[in-house]
Amino acid sequence: MKKKKNQNYSCVHAGELKDTVYGGATAPIYTSTTYDYRGPGTNLYPRYFNTPNQVALAQKMAVLENTESAMIFGSGMAAISAVFMAFLKNGDHIIMQRAIYGGTSHFAAAEFDRVGITYTMLEHINEDTLQESLQENTRMVYIETPSNPLLEVTDIEMVSAFAKANSLITAIDNTFASPINQNPADFGIDLIIHSATKYLGGHSDICAGTVSGSQKHMETLWNTAKNYGGSLSDVTVHLLERSIKTLGLRVKQQSKTALKLATFLERHPDLEKVNYPGLKTHPQYKIAKKQMYGFGGMMSFELKEHVDHNDFLEELKVIKPALSLAGVESTILSPAQTSHSLLTPEERAEQGITDRLLRFSVGIEELNILIDDIEQAIEKSRKR
Ligand SMILES: Cc1ncc(COP(=O)(O)O)c(C=O)c1O
Repeated sequence: MKKKKNQNYSCVHAGELKDTVYGGATAPIYTSTTYDYRGPGTNLYPRYFNTPNQVALAQKMAVLENTESAMIFGSGMAAISAVFMAFLKNGDHIIMQRAIYGGTSHFAAAEFDRVGITYTMLEHINEDTLQESLQENTRMVYIETPSNPLLEVTDIEMVSAFAKANSLITAIDNTFASPINQNPADFGIDLIIHSATKYLGGHSDICAGTVSGSQKHMETLWNTAKNYGGSLSDVTVHLLERSIKTLGLRVKQQSKTALKLATFLERHPDLEKVNYPGLKTHPQYKIAKKQMYGFGGMMSFELKEHVDHNDFLEELKVIKPALSLAGVESTILSPAQTSHSLLTPEERAEQGITDRLLRFSVGIEELNILIDDIEQAIEKSRKR
């Protein structure tokens, strides 16, 4: 497993906006939507992504993702859609991983056709499948790893090498790993996207997104993004900056607890299957170990037939059934009933998503609390 130094220092201090007037320990919040055009803030405007708090937070994200630059958006989807619309045009083709966030696949299905962009979704991403789907007009490869909800791991270095050899731009949704556990720029990925609504926000009360990359790529992104208007308000920028200060502490704790919990659940007699990249039995364990600093706080599992999964969700006392993920509180959901409910049972089965699959987001509660909650809920949900 790779090691990275001083992550907590970067979370707290990178891109710090200093209070030079009063010497306060935290950054002042500039909420103005209008500034004196004669300077010093020439052309500052929230939708131009260039107000003091936006710029400071973007610098923090650039440092955390080891890139030159970054931009902050009003949601993860605002970031993802801006990337597609800025780097693809009518007549282009994109290769995408199939196992990605449902909203992103929906964007491709609903929007690409209208603007004349074609796409190929790949079930398994490897050199052969990438080569087979390469077309003359292919411009981008888009991946998400670890994936939702099966925690499949894609080899970032391989994708990056393939893309470079074929002059393609690469984009990754790094939400599940967070910058604490994975820095795709180190492997040559061009655009690193986060739904900051998840780990970066971390308290289930902020909707935001980020993109990190080179200065040149951020200029291209900015040219399009300012037209779509998906910036984040400075008050929420402040909240996000405050949250990121504890990102390292939270994610390291969540990853530690998740590894122990996944190891416990894998041996549990009432569970069928546990998907977690940190388990040696995970099919891409070696790749995960190569490219991640920690295995993250997300996992999924199936209860055996003799445990009713709906009753199990009802009986949980601490772990909350909830749609989103990556907060300080542990949450759980049934992908078949939520994110993947629009697929037919056959389509779900094809992707390995059974009705009994549950996606679990490990919070910062102690391991014994989570184990006790799971055990008592299983006990009450056995089919008689
Ligand atoms: C992996 C992943 N990427 C992107 C998104 C979209 O982010 P947002 O809801 O902030 O627009 C989500 C939301 O659930 C997600 O889970």
